Amino acid sequence: MSTFYTVTTIDRIPPGASRCVEVGGREIALFNLAGTVYALDDRCSHEDAPLSEGEIEGETVVCPWHLARFEIKTGKVLSAPACAGVETFAVRVRDGVVQVAIDDGTGG
Ligand code: FES
Repeated sequence: MSTFYTVTTIDRIPPGASRCVEVGGREIALFNLAGTVYALDDRCSHEDAPLSEGEIEGETVVCPWHLARFEIKTGKVLSAPACAGVETFAVRVRDGVVQVAIDDGTGG
């Protein structure tokens, strides 16, 4: 079962921005695409580069190390050298507070 954790406030991640947050012992990359926030594992599936530091191009993020591309909304890999996608997490924004759903390990 997943639990929503508060990670930041929406004013700290304006449209077009990205940032890394830590929650549940994991580093999560947040991306604000035109006012909607998406969350991906902040480790590239190739060699663990921080995707939150990558360039955002449209709805994709370009890995800062070897330039693999990922679809921000789905985590799907779009180009080499990465060959696997990255995990995505549900996000909700309530009263300006950004929350990310992380599996709490209870399996429900
Ligand atoms: S670490 Fe991302 S493409 Fe290599």
